[in-house]
Amino acid sequence: MCGDLRSSHVDSANSGETITLMGWVNRRRDHGNLIFLDLRDRSGITQVVLDKEIAPEAHAKAEAARPEYVVAVTGVLRARGEGLANPNMATGEVELVAHSLLLLNDAKTPPFSPAEDAIGNEEVRLKYRYIDLRRTEMQHNFALRSRVAMAIRNYLVSQGFLEIETPFMTRSTPEGARDYLVPSRVHPGHFYALPQSPQIFKQILMISGFDRYFQIARCFRDEDLRADRQPEFTQIDLEITFPQMATIFATAEGFLRAAFNAAGITLSDQPFIQMTYDQAITRYGIDKPDMRLPAMVDLSATLTAELRETLKIDAALPVLGFTIPRVGEMSGTARKALVSEIRATFGDTGLDFLDVARLRTNETFLPLAEAIAAKLTAEQLVFNGENFTTEDLAVVITPKPGTPAMWNYDPQWIYKRVGALRLELAKKFADKHKLFEQTHTAADFKFLWVTDFPMYEWNEESKTWDAAHHPFTSPHEDDIISGRLVNDKGAVRALAYDVVLNGTELGSGSIRIHRKDVQAEIFRSLGMSDEEAHNRFGFFLDALEYGTPPHGGIALGLDRIVMILAGAQSLREVIAFPKTAKAIDLMVDAPTPVSEQQLRELSLKTVTRS
Ligand code: AMO
Repeated sequence: MCGDLRSSHVDSANSGETITLMGWVNRRRDHGNLIFLDLRDRSGITQVVLDKEIAPEAHAKAEAARPEYVVAVTGVLRARGEGLANPNMATGEVELVAHSLLLLNDAKTPPFSPAEDAIGNEEVRLKYRYIDLRRTEMQHNFALRSRVAMAIRNYLVSQGFLEIETPFMTRSTPEGARDYLVPSRVHPGHFYALPQSPQIFKQILMISGFDRYFQIARCFRDEDLRADRQPEFTQIDLEITFPQMATIFATAEGFLRAAFNAAGITLSDQPFIQMTYDQAITRYGIDKPDMRLPAMVDLSATLTAELRETLKIDAALPVLGFTIPRVGEMSGTARKALVSEIRATFGDTGLDFLDVARLRTNETFLPLAEAIAAKLTAEQLVFNGENFTTEDLAVVITPKPGTPAMWNYDPQWIYKRVGALRLELAKKFADKHKLFEQTHTAADFKFLWVTDFPMYEWNEESKTWDAAHHPFTSPHEDDIISGRLVNDKGAVRALAYDVVLNGTELGSGSIRIHRKDVQAEIFRSLGMSDEEAHNRFGFFLDALEYGTPPHGGIALGLDRIVMILAGAQSLREVIAFPKTAKAIDLMVDAPTPVSEQQLRELSLKTVTRS
């Protein structure tokens, strides 16, 4: 292969042993009697020399060769001359002296060169994806993806899991998105739904006695797309009969270690840390904390009553501070600009921006901050005293006098809002100050489990309680017994958990409901009538009555895992044929209108929405 050749392959015995390489012309340099072709395949690049003196016919053909032509070259490998080795290339010490050259195919001038590292226009990349995928970086990403998937598969099989496929043409599976529907020709007016996840099937597989199931499963969701969301994506989906939560955590940690190993990163054997949802919110303001940054601290306790009075701070509300590491010196103008920028983002939410300060042994800038600073030492601003230096930017936020409406509605709102600011600021300073610089070691990757999620989420639009995870998730037993399920839905906790890496939700799962009466009760609590529950999930409620074992599981996004391992910013870098943010496949140009005849066969008519 083009990337394999080394000095050890050089024909030092002059035996005339020849090598044949086939691939694409990456670059061509014409020096008259000497033409150099960089020949590229999946494994890398080798320099080929066409010397008019040695092989006039091959040299003549190479004159016609252009980038992306497909060629076969046969020749003898030799060491490059003194001082000509290229230390930046794996094959940089050698070159293939061609004896013959075959032009296997020509190529139009491509819209961009795969030899280049960064291509600015993503639409062009997606339209000519086959050219884009030839780039070294993309070849690397897909080799990585293949290795990671294989490592996970091998690990799960070694742990006694069976891989079982579940249908694509099925009924709606509720994961909170819209369904992609497939019309049935045979049953006019009837539709299959593509699965948002294999959730119900994997539970039925537990009822069927396959006590350890997994699948590298494609899922389909019609939802707003973002860098980490595609309409079709791949889950590592698994389910276990008679599990403890710890069994599921250990399984996911086990395959993540295997996956990271496949990417050359050895994670520690220590179990991932765990925190409850409430802890995550009060420390990080979000249910997927980025642990590479210090946590928020509630400074309330350090404020004297007198100071509260002066600053008119409600004693019941938190005063939140956080630091962004390594921001360093900041000019007065820059600081002022930052202050007004942050203030503007709060609008009339009821939060006030107290101060941005670089704590330098209590030396701060604004009068308000001086008051606070007198009470705060650098250490108090840092969760567990970790990672604080005088180069850090410290930010303190306090609620304005008078209770903000959002606080009444969601007591955790202040934490969430300040947590969001923490991430916005980190993002703002990330590149310049190399906050998240990758060393490609285990230290770059901060995993955790978030547990005890709320069971329900209030939907302000429809004025209903929705399932925060999905409706098959088991509530805590004591929340069932205590009656909170009916009386105080907002307080019900679920046996649900997420695994989070560097601020990205990698996976979600739960211990499931395995009793029909509880399942029916949960459907009711979500505002579903028994009739509706029967229509949508009757088959499943039936199945629950035929000896359902306790079970639970999890699904992790394979695309997201590979994205992080590849150091990519978007799932599109690790999905071979992805869709745009508008759910379009630019290469094949899908979706498209279909013919009148196809519509007729499906008993469908299209109407234009006004
Ligand atoms: P959930 O909906 O949380 O759980 O999905 C699990 C994981 O799948 C990935 N994911 C996505 N990746 C890319 N694009 C998307 N649109 C997308 N949506 C989800 C995420 C997410 O953490 N059936 C449950 C799991 C269970 O309870 O066992 C489920 O699907 O990484």
